[in-house]
Amino acid sequence: MEFEFKSEKMFDDNGYAFGLSEKIKAKMREVVKRSGDKIPYTAENGVFDDQTGHNICWWTNGFFGGMMWQMYNATHEEAFRDKALRIEEQLDENLMNAEGLDHDNGFKWLPTAGADYTLTGSRASLNRLRLAADNMLGRFNIAGSFFRAWNGEPGTRAGWAIIDCMMNLPLLYRMSDLQKDPRYRLAAIKHADTAMKFFVREDGSVNHIVEFDPATGAFLKTQGGQGMAVGSTWTRGQAWAVYGFTLSYIHTGRKDYLDTAVKAADFFLRSMKDRDTADVPVDFLQPRDILWEDGTAAAIVSCGLLELSRILGTKGIEYRVFADGLIKELAASNCDFNPSTDNLLTKCSASYNSKEHDFPIIYGDYYFMEAVFKLTGEELFIW
Ligand code: GLY
Repeated sequence: MEFEFKSEKMFDDNGYAFGLSEKIKAKMREVVKRSGDKIPYTAENGVFDDQTGHNICWWTNGFFGGMMWQMYNATHEEAFRDKALRIEEQLDENLMNAEGLDHDNGFKWLPTAGADYTLTGSRASLNRLRLAADNMLGRFNIAGSFFRAWNGEPGTRAGWAIIDCMMNLPLLYRMSDLQKDPRYRLAAIKHADTAMKFFVREDGSVNHIVEFDPATGAFLKTQGGQGMAVGSTWTRGQAWAVYGFTLSYIHTGRKDYLDTAVKAADFFLRSMKDRDTADVPVDFLQPRDILWEDGTAAAIVSCGLLELSRILGTKGIEYRVFADGLIKELAASNCDFNPSTDNLLTKCSASYNSKEHDFPIIYGDYYFMEAVFKLTGEELFIW
């Protein structure tokens, strides 16, 4: 499929998205019926796996619940709400497990408890959000002004921060709004400032992992993380930066966050224009003869670009056109709309140097749905 980078399209030219939305809904109506108590991460031969029982703390466990809330919001059909509520309760086992709580609390509880609270005002959901936000706040390193990313053996990874965390900051912005307590927001802003300084390179590309001395806060080094190598650009990390800085702008109004989101977005667009395919690779330095795709990066960056285009108005038309191209390409060559299979996206990638390429990943499905629903006006804004 030809990838077009036209910039003269109009903002209201979103007719194609309604067709995609109907296909997604038709499929999800069947998926929810057979999903039982599952919380999926991936699918094998079109059948969802299940993270419950053995991996309840996995960072992606909020996304299927988020899809269910998006579906409920779009259709008002109770099957989706019931499944979403069940997942929210299942994740309580994670809330009681300190080792399983980390900076990804936003990814787990904004699409579940946060969505529930937004739609229903549930006190139980607010309680979960508070526990998740308070735990995340406890990960703030005062010396370096960053949130520690992952857990690990004592003495390891205490100084590691990762670009993905930008997507978890909305948990803190929202908690400050809900509790009328600036602590959460202040820490989120400090982290975003650190990320602008140490993660975003001069050309707008981003590092995945930055390691600081956890006692002094001094910068130590960058790591390639889930990208190809130190200094390369992991496309999902770039997408997290585009959407994450946009979200920090939305929650704070800080112009430098918007400028950083634009810088990261422009790098993404430039890098794609240099390629001869519309498929998003796993890393922008990926050799041309390696054809691995990451549909998650395409879906996430589409969400970020659509928000940027909305914020920037006519100045953001290029982002809207680019996101349209990515969404159409995902729908045409990376999507399974067949209601008898469980997953939507088919070609995602866990990380460059793992063997996990070109397989379904649940957050790819989540962000694809979110992007389509942004265009049709059916989105529940959860971040
Ligand atoms: N947050 C980890 C990832 O994007 O794979």
